[in-house]
Amino acid sequence: MTFISTSFSVLVLLLSTTGVFPRPGIDFGSRTKRDVHCTGNLQYPNGNNCCLNCPAGTHVTSHCIKTGERGQCQECDYETYTEHPNHLNQCLKCTKCRPDQEVVRHCMPTQDTECQCKAGRFCDPHQACEICKRCSKCEKDEEIERNCTSTTNTECKKIQPSSGSVSANTPVIVIIVISSLVVVAGGVAVFIWKKCRSTDTGRDLPEEIKVEQEEDFPKLNPVNDEESLRKCFEYFEDMEIDQHKRFFRNLGIRDNVIKSKELLPYEDKIHELLNIWVEKEGREASLNDLLKALLDLKQRQTAETVMGKAIQDGHYVECPSESEILY
Ligand SMILES: *[C@@H]1O[C@H](CO)[C@@H](O)[C@H](O)[C@H]1NC(C)=O
Repeated sequence: MTFISTSFSVLVLLLSTTGVFPRPGIDFGSRTKRDVHCTGNLQYPNGNNCCLNCPAGTHVTSHCIKTGERGQCQECDYETYTEHPNHLNQCLKCTKCRPDQEVVRHCMPTQDTECQCKAGRFCDPHQACEICKRCSKCEKDEEIERNCTSTTNTECKKIQPSSGSVSANTPVIVIIVISSLVVVAGGVAVFIWKKCRSTDTGRDLPEEIKVEQEEDFPKLNPVNDEESLRKCFEYFEDMEIDQHKRFFRNLGIRDNVIKSKELLPYEDKIHELLNIWVEKEGREASLNDLLKALLDLKQRQTAETVMGKAIQDGHYVECPSESEILY
């Protein structure tokens, strides 16, 4: 019998230390004083007394003088709250929603503010979310399977091709279209090749690194010069927030300039700094340099994503290698 009860208490002790027994609410250090045993969430030790916690929505202004009593509690001020019974000296500051979020529920004395991403943006609650990401748009050959919500991205699915009518002239039209495409593509390829060759890609880097990166990462060519470049700015919004400072430093933007944009919402900051960079570089500004800066920071995945979007949205084309042109 003794053995059973002993092993039971050992089990209880183990379970409670491993947190299997849930302890609701905030447990403000009732274990710190060994001499006073106050009961769980209701009481807290103060000197030799166990005082009753103040209720949610209030905080303690003076402690009790007798065990089992409550000291003085005061309602939380405007823009502060406490969600649980507590013996805090001050209520907690209410969360302020970020510029890319909107208020779902205003702060109340017993509840913090609730924020969610603004329409067209989302944050996966399972991932750390410092900025709300832009919802994806479906491609031309896709349709929306599920709309974007504040916590989930858009889901797209391929549109099932409807079996259209086949006219008698189809083979002739197909032949004309294909042959004109071949002619146009040939012209474009030569044009791109010339343009790519004339673009100075390498900056002041040791020769081996230049060669390695050139082989490694494709060069892109704008379809519409500076306009193409500016259209790609938004792809940089998804850059890791802790990387952006290093990224702009790498592009030669000075720290005080970066700092002067600090208070802007994250996306505006990215756009402003990229604009400053374009103005600084003038006609030399090229998406290839931005991608290179990402590669220098070991952000290859982001670089590949940006490149993919730039090509997919038709702002850039990949510069073909010489061997591809010849065939
Ligand atoms: C997505 O939202 C639009 C407009 O709010 C609506 O017309 C459409 O039916 C929705 N699509 C899906 C798949 O829920």
